[in-house]
Amino acid sequence: MLNVAIVAGGDSREYGISVKSAKQVELHIDRELFNPYLILIKGEKWYYRIGLKKFPIDKNDFSLTIGRKKIRFDLVFVAIHGTPGENGKLQGYFDLLRIPYTSSDVTTSAITFNKSFCKDVVRSCGINTAKSIHLFREGLNLESDILSQLALPVFVKPNNGGSSVGMTKVNHKSELGAALAKAFHEDSEVLAEEFIKGRELTCGVLRTEGRIIAFPVTEIIPKTEYFDYDAKYKKGMAEEVVPAEIPGELSQQCQGISRLLYEKLNCKGVVRFDYIFTGSAFWFLEVNTVPGMSTASIVPKMARAHGWSFGELITRLIMEIK
Ligand SMILES: Nc1ncnc2c1ncn2[C@@H]1O[C@H](COP(=O)(O)OP(=O)(O)O)[C@@H](O)[C@H]1O
Ligand SMILES: [Mg+2]
Repeated sequence: MLNVAIVAGGDSREYGISVKSAKQVELHIDRELFNPYLILIKGEKWYYRIGLKKFPIDKNDFSLTIGRKKIRFDLVFVAIHGTPGENGKLQGYFDLLRIPYTSSDVTTSAITFNKSFCKDVVRSCGINTAKSIHLFREGLNLESDILSQLALPVFVKPNNGGSSVGMTKVNHKSELGAALAKAFHEDSEVLAEEFIKGRELTCGVLRTEGRIIAFPVTEIIPKTEYFDYDAKYKKGMAEEVVPAEIPGELSQQCQGISRLLYEKLNCKGVVRFDYIFTGSAFWFLEVNTVPGMSTASIVPKMARAHGWSFGELITRLIMEIK
């Protein structure tokens, strides 16, 4: 039996979503193989809970003491979206302690979590990315810089964000100032990116038994203008079509791009690549290296469409690193 720490929570606005993901992992994990412990992480407070009683984690060795029993973890299942679980920070900590984990490593997590730097690597692989500007601090000339270099509409988003928090689709230049203020409120770096018109497609990829597998391509059809926070988390605000209703060869093309990027970005575990499909080409939007695992999330649905239960997906992710 392996002791598995499912780490959840984190310090971003995705705390609650992460806890939902972790609870599903805890529910579906194969208990004949693994002993799961859901570990909540928020700022300095790291703990395991039984009922109302909290047991702190000893950060010197990431261990847990319950009564007189000291529990050490064989591996970590990362279920934290955003910082510190998706940007490499926890990965660095676990590397120092030599505890294996299910997500991408420090470098890949750090680069992919930075939307702009990630797009630079993706573009170097020959994949389309929307034209954008990476802004490092608030300033006076940002609006004119954006308007002179990019064509409206433009998405203004926190560069290191998630769940569409702090993001605005700017259709008119009069909205740009407020959009920049909103994004800089969430992050010290902002990405201004040209809008790509098309259908939103997403493809989950993982490595299992030494092979890189792409799940069926999925179409996201939000009821809102784009896949914003409400569309992501409010029931009935978005439809997910698995597999997407697109010709087989296009689906294979999308899976091929996704497998290539998984390899080139050196991803580990299950990740989800998001694209806009214009009708002729796929434009990379971003990669989620710790995608949602809640009942409403896309990856568990993709796994099911591929023929795997959620439990099987979890077992495969863990077996790959143990
Ligand atoms: N350049 C773009 N063109 C078209 N739609 C976009 C663009 N950028 C973002 N979007 C829309 O906004 C959503 C969230 O953007 P994304 O970059 O994935 O941020 P997050 O990390 O918050 O999910 C996307 O799923 C898509 O619906
Ligand atoms: Mg996204």
